[in-house]
Amino acid sequence: MAVVGIVPAAGSGERLGASGPKAFAVCAGRPLIEWSLEVLAAVCDRVVVAVPPGYEDGCDRVTGGRHRSESVRAALQAAPEATVAVVHDAARPLLTRELVEGCIAAVRAGWDGAVAAAPMTDTVKEAGPDGRVLRTLDRSTLWAIQTPQAFAAETLRRALDVPEQALAAATDDASLVEAAGGSVRVVEAPSENVKITWPGDLRAVEAVLLARAAV
Ligand code: CTP
Ligand code: MG
Repeated sequence: MAVVGIVPAAGSGERLGASGPKAFAVCAGRPLIEWSLEVLAAVCDRVVVAVPPGYEDGCDRVTGGRHRSESVRAALQAAPEATVAVVHDAARPLLTRELVEGCIAAVRAGWDGAVAAAPMTDTVKEAGPDGRVLRTLDRSTLWAIQTPQAFAAETLRRALDVPEQALAAATDDASLVEAAGGSVRVVEAPSENVKITWPGDLRAVEAVLLARAAV
């Protein structure tokens, strides 16, 4: 069984506003992506990274696509040997080995996919275009979905084999597997598994990484 890590890192990081792509912005002394690669390398047989054009130097790097799912597909195509694929965004550097292993274990137990997730702590409402609240959802069954997301690799390959429009609309990989009828379960993530989107996120994550290093 070959477990392959797939890291979409080909985004431009527009909202972060750094001088280059987000995955290569320095975070607590090293490129952001390195924090995820270190954890994935400890668990996976191989890790393939989708990078922006011009960043292909280094091993196991492929050129990403215009949308996140296209980047995932490009990286997965470079790993035909994968039987389990673990997709993890470079933008979430605080993942833990236990979380990755928990997702892989669920796939080994027979699920098509297993996704890191946080139970909703905020109350969630649906609102119309004018801001009018239409309804309040039952928070007790809602989860905010993150990465890592582990899949039976063949199931993910098939789920990604859809027209570009469907890929562009997908905000995660599990939704494509779900749309293809696959079984997906949530795996509760530690609260610190946040995604870096804005400059303030980068500073908050840096503080956590530096505090970890100080222990
Ligand atoms: N990603 C990718 N290929 C794309 C777009 C995004 O591999 N065409 C990756 C990003 O590098 C990131 C992850 O998908 O690791 C989640 O995307 P996001 O947080 O939106 O990152 P960016 O697209 O880089 O940021 P922004 O949307 O602010 O430009
Ligand atoms: Mg983006």
